[in-house]
Amino acid sequence: MKLNNKVILVTGGSTGIGKAASRLLASQGARVVFTGRRKSAGEACEKELQDENLDVRYVPCDISSREQVDELFGIIRSEYSVLHAAFNNAGIDGVKSEILQAEQSDWDEIIAVNLTGTFMLVQRELEMMLPRGEGSIVNMSSVCGTIARKGRVAYNASRHGVEAITKTAALEYASSGIRVNAVAPGSVKTDIFLRSTGGDPKKQAMYNAGHPIGRVGEPDEIARAVLWLMTDAPDFMAGHTLMLDGGFTIQ
Ligand SMILES: NC(=O)c1ccc[n+]([C@@H]2O[C@H](COP(=O)([O-])OP(=O)(O)OC[C@H]3O[C@@H](n4cnc5c(N)ncnc54)[C@H](OP(=O)(O)O)[C@@H]3O)[C@@H](O)[C@H]2O)c1
Repeated sequence: MKLNNKVILVTGGSTGIGKAASRLLASQGARVVFTGRRKSAGEACEKELQDENLDVRYVPCDISSREQVDELFGIIRSEYSVLHAAFNNAGIDGVKSEILQAEQSDWDEIIAVNLTGTFMLVQRELEMMLPRGEGSIVNMSSVCGTIARKGRVAYNASRHGVEAITKTAALEYASSGIRVNAVAPGSVKTDIFLRSTGGDPKKQAMYNAGHPIGRVGEPDEIARAVLWLMTDAPDFMAGHTLMLDGGFTIQ
């Protein structure tokens, strides 16, 4: 599973699943560029991982801003000149409300970050990978990319859309050596999970019981699948979404 000197982009890498992925990929020898909007969280994560002797670099970037995404790729091009793989992980889940109560502004924000952001990233990643004829792109989806959950219309739509981007990009560029796939977690113990449960042990127990495996996931469990997708092991896989949900969607 070694990634010797591969240059890898991880969006939303300062916390949660993205941080676990940045750490794991860098521990396997990758040079990781990770992003996030909050400078304080990004810089703290950068220092923590650099203190572990990992080759990581934080670049502030809001993935819903075209200008900031272009600046990010300008930095990757000028300072690394190649991009071998990318984990398009950054995303938001928004406020829970059923369709009749849903705010237009909440819809616009979730679509701008999760869907349009992923599209802009994939476009620029393909541009960097195509001349070399190889690369692996892993998009963040969710169980909500396959099923729907109540009160989550924008999130459900954004994750179904991410799977459409994943399949379209794979269809168009698999023959050029670029593998585009996605991961779809169930509930994972991160800030998003803590916000959903409000830290309430009863709610957390309910989430655990909702997964046939009997618990929610750990960030590392998603990171390990991302690492695998970035090695040559799954080299006949294209446009696939790896469900990592403790059996949630088989019920
Ligand atoms: N935890 C779960 O149960 C679960 C399940 C399925 C899918 N997911 C998805 O997994 C991804 C990671 O979530 P997480 O659970 O690890 O929660 P998290 O700790 O809140 O991670 C989200 C990351 O995305 C970054 N981010 C959010 N909006 C951004 C934007 N506009 N531009 C750039 N970065 C942005 C955040 O950093 P800043 O705030 O500093 O920008 C943060 O580092 C998300 O896309 C989420 O939807 C999570």
